[in-house]
Amino acid sequence: MSRYFRAEIIENSPANRNHNLLILTPHEFSEHPIPGQFYMIGTDCSYDPLLKRPFSVFRRFAGEVYFLYRIKGKGTERMRQMKKGQIVNMLGPLGNGYPLPGKNLTPLLIAGGIGIASLFPLVEKLGNNAILFYGGRTANELLMLDELRRMAGEVIISTDDGSIGEKGTVVDTFKKLLASHLSAIGYQLIYACGPTPMLEAVSKIAVEKGIKGYISMEENMACGVGACLGCAVKTKKGYKRVCKEGPVFPIEEIVW
Ligand SMILES: Cc1cc2nc3c(=O)[nH]c(=O)nc-3n(C[C@H](O)[C@H](O)[C@H](O)COP(=O)(O)OP(=O)(O)OC[C@H]3O[C@@H](n4cnc5c(N)ncnc54)[C@H](O)[C@@H]3O)c2cc1C
Ligand code: FES
Repeated sequence: MSRYFRAEIIENSPANRNHNLLILTPHEFSEHPIPGQFYMIGTDCSYDPLLKRPFSVFRRFAGEVYFLYRIKGKGTERMRQMKKGQIVNMLGPLGNGYPLPGKNLTPLLIAGGIGIASLFPLVEKLGNNAILFYGGRTANELLMLDELRRMAGEVIISTDDGSIGEKGTVVDTFKKLLASHLSAIGYQLIYACGPTPMLEAVSKIAVEKGIKGYISMEENMACGVGACLGCAVKTKKGYKRVCKEGPVFPIEEIVW
């Protein structure tokens, strides 16, 4: 079944200074995504496939698909300018998504910056079983805090400048709490999404402590469907495509 479809923009509004919330309603059938899957979104009105960019599904609600995106370069700047009522070309849902934890495991979710877009639907699914570590540069970079606090069992915030929550990186805070109050929790499973150095640091801690888990990798993508090999990453089982075999990988599998 084709995963290409067209969708209409219902809303494209600022979530803060450099992030937008995009809500789209599909005009054709599109499959229901699972947390951790993503879509390639056309960043202009043409059919040029090279102008599509990958974005995690942030929410699927009442037939609409929500995305939270950071304005970074050319493609996302074009997205920021897209207007309500405009039709965009979409491809998805793509990738594998997060496997759910078994019954006796406590999920520890670690989100750095816009990594929260990918983990948000997992928090929604896991509800108060989830312990979420969420870090950003400064207080007004953190998004959807009220919703996250309502959904998760615990939300531990950190900012690089200490303007809200713990001062330091999300990895610093995670490491500190792992050694203190989290040490009482028997079986833990990590889910992480964020900048590559954050994922590398989390993976090293997980391997050192013998904690299993999953990380969602971000690579530049051209095709999004496994054809161009542009998104391949080195794993212990050879090179794997982030768009096809990922973006979610077992935490110990990536070769850094
Ligand atoms: C699985 C996945 C999920 C993601 N989810 C999110 C999310 O939910 N929210 C979010 O904010 N970000 C997300 N990202 C990151 C997001 O895709 C990038 O920030 C976005 O693609 C940046 O695009 P840009 O054009 O604005 O930035 P640029 O920096 O201008 O471009 C991004 C990269 O695309 C390449 N590129 C530029 N032009 C072309 C072209 N014509 N054809 C092919 N490649 C080109 C460039 O080499 C550049 O490195 C995700 C990434 C992945 C892989
Ligand atoms: S983006 Fe082309 S193979 Fe992954």
